[in-house]
Amino acid sequence: MPLDRFGRQINYLRVSVIDHCNLRCVYCMPLHGVRLTRPQELLSPQEIEQVVRAAASLGFTKVRLTGGEPTLRPDLEEIVQRIASIRRIRDLSMTTNGILLPRLAAKLRDAGLKRVNIHLDALHPGRLQRVMRFGTVEEIWAGIEAADRAGLRPIKLNVVVTRGYNDDDIVDLARLTLTRDWHVRFIELMPLGGGEEARIAVSHFLSSGETLQRIENGLGALEPVPSLHPSDEAVYYRLRGARGLIGVISPVSRPYCGTCNRMRLTADGKLHLCLLHDDELDLRKLLRHGATVLELAEVIKLGVRRKPTGHALKEGVAPEERSMYQIGG
Ligand code: 5AD
Ligand code: SF4
Repeated sequence: MPLDRFGRQINYLRVSVIDHCNLRCVYCMPLHGVRLTRPQELLSPQEIEQVVRAAASLGFTKVRLTGGEPTLRPDLEEIVQRIASIRRIRDLSMTTNGILLPRLAAKLRDAGLKRVNIHLDALHPGRLQRVMRFGTVEEIWAGIEAADRAGLRPIKLNVVVTRGYNDDDIVDLARLTLTRDWHVRFIELMPLGGGEEARIAVSHFLSSGETLQRIENGLGALEPVPSLHPSDEAVYYRLRGARGLIGVISPVSRPYCGTCNRMRLTADGKLHLCLLHDDELDLRKLLRHGATVLELAEVIKLGVRRKPTGHALKEGVAPEERSMYQIGG
């Protein structure tokens, strides 16, 4: 497994397959003026497979498909199949807003997808509309149920906590864990991309400490649950008698750079070394100049060595080159 300069074992590749999305969350994607990657600039399923093969040859074992919204790629099934065929990749998951899962969940499972994280910010229809802007609770809920039926488990729900938008839904979302064996995870807002969305992420920030407090006030004491994996960015808790888990992810108030195990591939084929820095290596250029898997592996190894650590989100310093929908979280 490749070690970086700080002794971190890097074995997890997040692959953004498209930067388009069918929603427009206020902290992520502007309503107008989005400059999307043109189809010919996106990596093809074969190219994605080559990059993942190269990463796997170095010891990467975990891949997550992200976007934008990955289900908008018409060739997503082929991408899943190709990655699932790589023997060393033992864990293949996807982050999605769930809206297209009713028609895709079973097909993606058959292609080799193991599980999904579904982004749901609110249960109250009006509040969901305000924060995610398109899409409805019913649509996302149908996607969650479809994923559950298809066995894409454990189902994890991601809630990006945005003060004044969905903080009144925290308790109701946490309550889901009483009856469902889902992991409901509350994520602190990160300001990425330098635009209006980043400003909203700063001005509407609500810390995980406050999220947990509100859950305890509404639903009673939370018992800490030991984390299953050392590099799991979520810290987990359980409500008394609950089937599911409540998690908090706190990149701002409690940075977890020290145990980071991941690298990212952007939809346009750049190896993005850290979510919170702008450093990238251009793999698409290499691929389109006929690089072999071995050559790609050398460059990924270089990327691992150059992977930065530490960020200054708390001090208000954030990367500005790319927005969240271009990196995939
Ligand atoms: N801060 C924190 N999380 C975010 N996500 C999207 N934008 C932000 C942001 N600004 C989350 C979404 C999605 C995942 C890829 O990242 O919930 O599930
Ligand atoms: Fe789409 Fe996810 Fe961004 Fe929302 S956070 S606009 S669902 S990519």
